[in-house]
Amino acid sequence: MGEPVALGDIQETLLIPLYGRALDAGKKNSVLHDRKAAELVDAIDYDFAKFRGPSLGGSVTRASIFDQYVRDFLAEHPDGRVVDLGCGLSTRFQRLDNGRVRWFDLDVDDTMALRRKFFSDSDRYTMLAGSIFDTDWHTTVSANDGLVFLLSEAVLLYFDADEVTAVLSSIARAFAGSKLAIDTGGKAMMSTQDRNPVFKAVAARMKWVCDDPSTLESCGLRLLESRTFAQPQPDVARTWPPLYRYGLKAIGWTPMVSTYKLNLFECTPA
Ligand SMILES: C[S@@+](CC[C@H](N)C(=O)[O-])C[C@H]1O[C@@H](n2cnc3c(N)ncnc32)[C@H](O)[C@@H]1O
Repeated sequence: MGEPVALGDIQETLLIPLYGRALDAGKKNSVLHDRKAAELVDAIDYDFAKFRGPSLGGSVTRASIFDQYVRDFLAEHPDGRVVDLGCGLSTRFQRLDNGRVRWFDLDVDDTMALRRKFFSDSDRYTMLAGSIFDTDWHTTVSANDGLVFLLSEAVLLYFDADEVTAVLSSIARAFAGSKLAIDTGGKAMMSTQDRNPVFKAVAARMKWVCDDPSTLESCGLRLLESRTFAQPQPDVARTWPPLYRYGLKAIGWTPMVSTYKLNLFECTPA
């Protein structure tokens, strides 16, 4: 009998990218080589097979683009701090650990309780139970020298626009000079989610529509990079199998690809 899951609606969606990474780990041309994800899928009592469709591979391409944003930060700041807000059962720390980074993974109570069954804190790795919308984690993760990289992957999409802009403004004020990576989805993606096979299998729905990530500059963020699956970093593209590398480029003009963006900002509050 595997580990049972009792997760809220948004929290349950973490099982989609987990399964996507587990399937990827079993492939000959795996992108992330996330064998821990495959172990977790085996250990958790859940009907993962109900998840189907392109979002599973999308979880892998998304994670690899976010990974590269973090890698670039760590190349410049090997002793820096990284904070993954809404980490789910991500293994990003395990994938990118350079032996020096100080890493924080934050997620809400029920997700963190599940995560703690499979991961342990260490001297450079801390799991925090809490909400991105709280502010108590701000001081916990802050560094004296200000070198913090924040990311939140497939989390803010599930909240209302006014909640998202409020939390982004609060993060921008608290972490001036730091970088923040988040994903945004345009109308075309949001309006078709009921037809997406993975969303047929869960209750949660994405709510925040953002057609133009540069509009978030009004929250005190400066847009540094905005990528779609058709425009991964060259180092990332080289790790993708041809189907992703050339296939996604070929359909890059379609609204499904062109309106989902993986963005990198700098916090520059007024
Ligand atoms: C689609 S999953 C993404 C998980 C992870 N980032 C990944 O890509 O594998 C959405 C995540 O948002 C988390 N979440 C929901 N509400 C949250 C909140 N208020 N603060 C932080 N995380 C939250 C869920 O627990 C879940 O882990």
